[in-house]
Order: sequence, then structure tokens, then C-alpha cells
Amino acid sequence: MAFPRHRPRRLRSTPALRRLVAQTSLEPRHLVLPMFVADGLSESRPIDSMPGVVQHSRDSLRKAAAEAVAAGVGGLMLFGVPRDEDKDAEGSVGVAEDGILNVALRDLSSDLGDDTVLMADTCLDEFTDHGHCGVLDAKGRVDNDATNSRYVELAVAQANSGAHVVGPSGMMDGQVAAIRDGLDAAGHADVVILAYAAKFASGFYGPFREAVSSSLDGDRRTYQQNPGNAREALHEVELDIDEGADIIMVKPAMAYLDVVRAAAEISPIPVAAYQVSGEYSMISAAAANGWIDLRTVALETLTGIRRAGADIVLSYWAADVAGWLA
Ligand code: PBG
Repeated sequence: MAFPRHRPRRLRSTPALRRLVAQTSLEPRHLVLPMFVADGLSESRPIDSMPGVVQHSRDSLRKAAAEAVAAGVGGLMLFGVPRDEDKDAEGSVGVAEDGILNVALRDLSSDLGDDTVLMADTCLDEFTDHGHCGVLDAKGRVDNDATNSRYVELAVAQANSGAHVVGPSGMMDGQVAAIRDGLDAAGHADVVILAYAAKFASGFYGPFREAVSSSLDGDRRTYQQNPGNAREALHEVELDIDEGADIIMVKPAMAYLDVVRAAAEISPIPVAAYQVSGEYSMISAAAANGWIDLRTVALETLTGIRRAGADIVLSYWAADVAGWLA
């Protein structure tokens, strides 16, 4: 009798067999491309800590967005970078109709219509002069409920500008319920809420701070979660589902795959994971040194995030992957 009887290698012997038995799929439609658009630029500007990622001008954004959509990405997540002199303590430029994020949403909405899923980051840190994700009280602490009122205004402005999806990322308590009520009251019952439900206070957001020219001096540990708290993350997920989220998200991705898995097991709604700036930069830097192969590792990490249970993955490689898989 031949030994061993069980030979898993049998199913690995040709590319066609391997394809037939593949258990996890990674397709462009699963991926959402985060993009940055900055006010006052005449052309795009590289972000040093994220090689290959740029702050777009309005024009370069339109071009890159159309290309990414043609390549087949599932959606676009937009972040606005206002001029420093337009930032204030309340982040008013995020709500203003002529604020860069709302202007860019209108550009993309008129270019792309319903051909893609247009998403906007619904948060204040890009727009406040102090760089926090909320408004501050007299003692300098982030004021939860005053911040939620601001998020409602932001979300309604983004929906008015053509966003199909708003993405509250500030981790205020009750933000999803407040935004749902606000959108419904403003006639936007169809606008989707992608809730950053379990967002950890992570060092992996480092390069993002350069990407959005953030003014933050300090940290976000009074609103973002402790990296060690998985049970608390599931509590946050349950609260957001209960408050009316349409999609929940875990962020960052790679260091939190157990949380992605646990969320996927309990969530009746789609689960997203965000492969954040530091994850992108870390892999890009190693690849630039010739230590790892970029394409292999990028695809491996994205497949791993899908395998953990994410239906949707936000990744700065989204458009590249669409090209690689074509
Ligand atoms: C908050 C927000 C952040 C990111 C997405 N939305 C920054 C933060 O919470 O500090 C980080 C994304 C990334 O690092 O790629 N508006």
C-alpha cells in the first residue's frame, strides 16, 4: 500500500487544479481605493512616506479615479486636505460646500455617476487646526456629543455632494445613530453608512498623517481603542450594527486579523477591513530595499485579510491589484 494515503499535494500539481480548489478569492471588486485630494494644488504631490501614493489636485484626482474605476475597483474612499489657513477648531471647511472634499465629491459624482461606489471619510481631523477627530471642550478634551452634531453636518454635506457612502471614522459613541437620523431627516435615506466600528489607536496610521498634512500633536487614545481589546472591539461592532450601520469596518487590518475573523462571525452585514498607510509603507519600504517582492506580498496580505473574513478591503494598492489581476 502506498504511503501516505492522504496526499494534499495531489491538488497542487497544476495551476488549473490549484485554481479549482482555491478557497479564497481576491477580485478587484473587493477592493476600495483610498484617495487624497488637496486644495490649491495645480498638480499632484507625492507623499514621501507612501511611495506611489499622492495628494491629488482636482484634475489629477478625476483622471486617477476614472482609471481606477475602469480597472475595476469596487469603490473609492476620498479624503480631503484643506489649506492650513482654512482649518479651524470646528473643522468648518469639512462642512463648507466649497471645501475641497465636497468639491471633489461633486467632481467625481458628475464624472462617474453610479459607475462606482463613491465614499467619503466622515471625520474632523483633516479639517481641524488642532488635528483631533472631534471638537474640544473647555478642558481640551474631545467632546463626544458636540462632535456627533458636527459629524451629522459633515455627512449631510457629503451626501449632498454625491457620496453614496459616508464613513464615520472618529470613534465617537453614538456616531452611527446620529448620522443615520441626520441623513434620513435630510432626505438621504439611501446613503450608506460604512462604520469604522473597531478602530484601534495604532502606530500604523503614521504615514497617513503626512498624507493629510495633519496638525495633530498628541494621540487619539481617548477615542480609538486599545490594541489589546478584542472583546471591546466586538462590543463596538454590535453597537454600530444596532445603531443602523450598513457595513462595519475593522482597522488596521494585518495586526487585527483575529478581530476581522470574530467580527465576520457575528456580523449579519458586510465586513470591511482597512489596510492602512503604515501597512502599505512597511511593505513598500522592504520591497524598495529588495528584501521582499512587492506584488507577491501585497497580494498575499490582501488574500489573508479576505481569508480572515473581510468582504471588502480598503487598500492603497487597490488599483494596482486590479491591473495585476487583469
Ligand atoms: C481619520 C482617519 C485616519 C485614517 C483614516 N481615517 C487617521 C487616524 O485615525 O489617525 C488612517 C488611514 C491610514 O492610516 O491609512 N480621519
